[in-house]
Amino acid sequence: MPADLPNPPTPPDRLPHHVVIVMDGNGRWAQQRSLPRTAGHREGAKTVRRIVQACSERGIEVLTLFAFSSENWRRPRREVEVLMNLFLTTLRSEIRRLDTANVRLRFIGNPSAFSPTLQDYIAKAQQRTAKNTGLTLVVAANYGGRWDIAQAARRLSEEIMAGQLQPRDVTPDILQRYVCLSDLPEPDLFIRTAGEQRISNFLLWQLAYTELYFTDRLWPDFDVDDLEAACAAFASRQRRFGLTSEQIARSSHA
Ligand code: IPE
Ligand code: IPE
Ligand code: MG
Repeated sequence: MPADLPNPPTPPDRLPHHVVIVMDGNGRWAQQRSLPRTAGHREGAKTVRRIVQACSERGIEVLTLFAFSSENWRRPRREVEVLMNLFLTTLRSEIRRLDTANVRLRFIGNPSAFSPTLQDYIAKAQQRTAKNTGLTLVVAANYGGRWDIAQAARRLSEEIMAGQLQPRDVTPDILQRYVCLSDLPEPDLFIRTAGEQRISNFLLWQLAYTELYFTDRLWPDFDVDDLEAACAAFASRQRRFGLTSEQIARSSHA
């Protein structure tokens, strides 16, 4: 098939319920054009709008985007400032559109390091869209997978100290209740753009059985057709969850 033909849409029953994306490559996109890295972040924000709309229209239930990692604070001060401003301006300009599109917006990560204005906007945006029933859009901001597991362990320890739980009761199922996203379907498909094949401290606990998909496309260039290609790859895979292919084939014919 010639490379420029659009990918046919994946049938709705084969689509992932929950897609997570590490939006990488903004800096390289800008550098290739001799622009400052921050120009890449601005262009990347436009991709977010396109992909959110596509997921919403395709009936995907949850889209989780890695916007800022707990390690990204270590970037040059000016770049961090631009990113913080971009979060605020994007949130301001998009919230009405998201709300109208019935999108429920959620944030995961530790918000306490953000400016009071940004924290306030985050809280208001979540409240405003809390009852929406369309796409759940989760933005991971100041998020780290190790932080997530540690905060779950801390909350569990508090319950143990309060005598509400015994140490022997701590199982994976119990810990699962305390990690972020525990009330949502587990991630089915993980997409990372820009050629890097690593998790970079994203959803370490939640990705246990997620299908991984890597593309060289830089995030600002990632389009709806690239999303289709990722969904098609997902639909072609057999998820076994530790079972054999024969067991899976038997249960799908049952
Ligand atoms: C991802 O793009 C955006 C954030 C991490 C905030 P990068 O800024 O990491 O882009 P590259 O990896 O330098 O190209
Ligand atoms: C991961 O990308 C974080 C986000 C996309 C927000 P990075 O660009 O920070 O990851 P590394 O440093 O290349 O692993
Ligand atoms: Mg990067």
